[in-house]
Amino acid sequence: MKQQVLLEVNNLKKYFNLGKNEVLKAVDDVSFKIHKGETFGIVGESGCGKSTAGRTIMGLYDRTAGEVVFNNQDIHALKDKEKFSFHRKMQMIFQDPYASLNPRSTVMEIISEPMEVHKLYRSKKDRQKRVYQLLEDVGLNRDHANRYPHEFSGGQRQRIGIARALALDPEFIIADEPISALDVSVQAQVVNLLMRLQKEKGLTYLFIAHDLSMVKQISDRIAVMYLGNMVELTTSSQLYKSPLHPYTQALLSAIPIPDPDIEDARERVILKGDLPSPINPPSGCVFRTRCPHAMDVCSQKKPVWQEAEDSHFVACHLYNKEVMDGKEYDQTAAAK
Ligand SMILES: Nc1ncnc2c1ncn2[C@@H]1O[C@H](COP(=O)(O)OP(=O)(O)OP(=O)(O)O)[C@@H](O)[C@H]1O
Ligand SMILES: [Mg+2]
Repeated sequence: MKQQVLLEVNNLKKYFNLGKNEVLKAVDDVSFKIHKGETFGIVGESGCGKSTAGRTIMGLYDRTAGEVVFNNQDIHALKDKEKFSFHRKMQMIFQDPYASLNPRSTVMEIISEPMEVHKLYRSKKDRQKRVYQLLEDVGLNRDHANRYPHEFSGGQRQRIGIARALALDPEFIIADEPISALDVSVQAQVVNLLMRLQKEKGLTYLFIAHDLSMVKQISDRIAVMYLGNMVELTTSSQLYKSPLHPYTQALLSAIPIPDPDIEDARERVILKGDLPSPINPPSGCVFRTRCPHAMDVCSQKKPVWQEAEDSHFVACHLYNKEVMDGKEYDQTAAAK
């Protein structure tokens, strides 16, 4: 069965103009497709551009270049009125459930607000009924409706944020580190809730995280970002079994393995140096300054995003046949 593409991101760039001719390349030429009903994870260390990518896809930021095609429409090309109705279909859940809820509004007001804005449901009573239903859907109850955000625990607040995101019956939800502010014991509950809701409502998720071990459990496919670039993309199982990109290999080797024998025997890839600045990124491959396999070509040419194996994409010269055959470049400095 051919999978239906719900979201297509083509060569998306988001640069921030910092003044004095300084430009920060937060997202630099990223392309991928998300299928209907899947959970697509994006991982990468702090500052690599995950949130900026999510916000630009949502339309919260203007794009610098590229396309975000949702249900066959480029959302950045929509007129205001069309944009408004598009927002019913795509919602976002944020990392900090406290900061994202208005402290002066009751839970009832918080969850019914998007319905009012979009003029859904005829009466206040209908909206209230819907809020009660949503509270139940996320594991809260109608008694919670008249309380304020500060009266809840972190996990409960995130449930309120999820109920609000669901209020307009969206098709697609971008969850930007929705559990990283929560206690470990509560994280699994919220993840389970998101998974249950996905099944019940046929939702599609873009799930942003910097913790690879967690994202593995829930994602069908995972994309790895580094310094504004996507470096690898494949199914979760494939990514863990045979990561291709040296950066993914390093990220994975940092996850402890519970078995002490395996843990002791395996080799850890430790990245040298610090994350370079996205204001002045390295030439060619942005990862080359920390890559254990960097070659001459890596500073000269940006690696192309290619399907190295079936449904396994990578941007790395090591997997570019032409480069590795030495047709284009002399490979004298290989594997320093
Ligand atoms: N509004 C903004 N103006 C200028 N620079 C920004 C803005 N938002 C983000 N950046 C910069 O863009 C880069 C990417 O930031 P972003 O928040 O997307 O990273 P992230 O991967 O979500 O990190 P984290 O894991 O810490 O949330 C960073 O260098 C950040 O400083
Ligand atoms: Mg972020």
